[in-house]
Amino acid sequence: MTESVHPHQQASNLWTSKMAFILAAAGSAVGLGNIWKFPYITGENGGGAFVLVYLACIFLIGVPVLIAEIMIGRRGGQSPIATMRSLTKTENASKSWRIIGWNGVVASFLVLSFYAVIGGWSLVYIGKAALGLFVGADAEAIGGQFNNLLANPWELLLWHTVFMAIVVFIVGRGIRSGLEKAVNMLMPLLFVLLIVMVFYAMSSGSFGRAVSFMFSPDFSRLTAEGVLVALGHAAFTLSIGIGVLMAYGSYLPKNVNIARTAMTIAVLDVSVALLAGLAIFPLVFANGLEAGAGPGLIFVTLPLAFGQMSGGLVFGAIFFALLFVAAITSAISMLEPVVEWLEEHKGASRTKSAVGGGLAVWFIGIGTVLSFNLWSDVHPLGFLGFFEGKTVFDLLDFLVSNLMMPLGGLAIALFAGWVIRREGLAEDVGLKGGAFKAFMFVLKFVTPAGIAIVFLYNLV
Ligand code: PFF
Repeated sequence: MTESVHPHQQASNLWTSKMAFILAAAGSAVGLGNIWKFPYITGENGGGAFVLVYLACIFLIGVPVLIAEIMIGRRGGQSPIATMRSLTKTENASKSWRIIGWNGVVASFLVLSFYAVIGGWSLVYIGKAALGLFVGADAEAIGGQFNNLLANPWELLLWHTVFMAIVVFIVGRGIRSGLEKAVNMLMPLLFVLLIVMVFYAMSSGSFGRAVSFMFSPDFSRLTAEGVLVALGHAAFTLSIGIGVLMAYGSYLPKNVNIARTAMTIAVLDVSVALLAGLAIFPLVFANGLEAGAGPGLIFVTLPLAFGQMSGGLVFGAIFFALLFVAAITSAISMLEPVVEWLEEHKGASRTKSAVGGGLAVWFIGIGTVLSFNLWSDVHPLGFLGFFEGKTVFDLLDFLVSNLMMPLGGLAIALFAGWVIRREGLAEDVGLKGGAFKAFMFVLKFVTPAGIAIVFLYNLV
């Protein structure tokens, strides 16, 4: 174990409690992935059987990486880049492993650049719902509202800017006064909003049908592709592989049991995704709409449902507020590796690092803003057949979600499973006897094999 205490790990810089860390990490995990993506991929992949596979992927493949990444972060106690540099030294490992740190800082930077643009949509939709713009509107009108938003670069830029400003404000205030205060307030709010939405769906929707859609597995509707989508999503939703949890782990007090904490985070993450499905599908079914509508499910299908239902104005606004809260607690986690590295590497203050890092992310985000309108025909790497037809946004999404996250997760599993010395490891992750052996087995063999399969599939 590394015993030296880095400045970041001085007591006043650590999370004040295990609970604070759990809320922050769960805040990172629970995001657009749970409320936007999980319901629509469940819809597209036929429901129950897909949900079962997704749960298996979370607990068999995701949780071991989650544990490993937090453990590495706490051992190093610095930004992902410096953490990997010091661990490769103490473990006598090849310098090539340092790529894990660089991959993390670069990927979290890039993912935030487009995540913030979509986070901005949630702000637009809170306003649209509250102003009653969905009331009585038909499918065409609501689809038109969405298309008009995407077609307007200035509007997208405005909300991208507002969203990023909030992220920078929170992160700039530091771990305790910024991130921790924000998640202490926002995570309970998220649960309340979600429960309110589930009750609304129970009282005014086809709740029974939604429950059977999500929980009675019909394996004839599951495809090989569905299995791979479930696995890829398990990694995305747990925020693993890109240094975010390594950065959060670097502020984790030594006495916290990582394995148990990681399990709690995963259970919270899964619960929110399932509840989001139970809030959305009843409304979709009650209004005779399509569960497999794809990415437009919550920005087009759901507003249509709200527009036809009593209470749709208030509950529509509540739903998009929920989406915003989920997105912002994930976005702050994406800026953390960058800021931690700037503080360390450039010796800049927390505020300056957050503003500087945030500005750079904001600037790169403009590429995503323009992908939906002025640059919709610009395909930067289109000459490589592989990237044909991909806009800047598609390219960034592909690069991060299909390459950097899975490869990062794979490398973390291999590094923790095969390279880090065994002494002290069991105590460090907080597992004993058979549980530790099982954990190591999964980390060494099952997880890498699972990730490698999805990765190759996505590439082909
Ligand atoms: N887990 C987040 C979600 O489900 O929306 C997305 C995410 C957050 C991915 C942080 C990666 C990350 F580092």
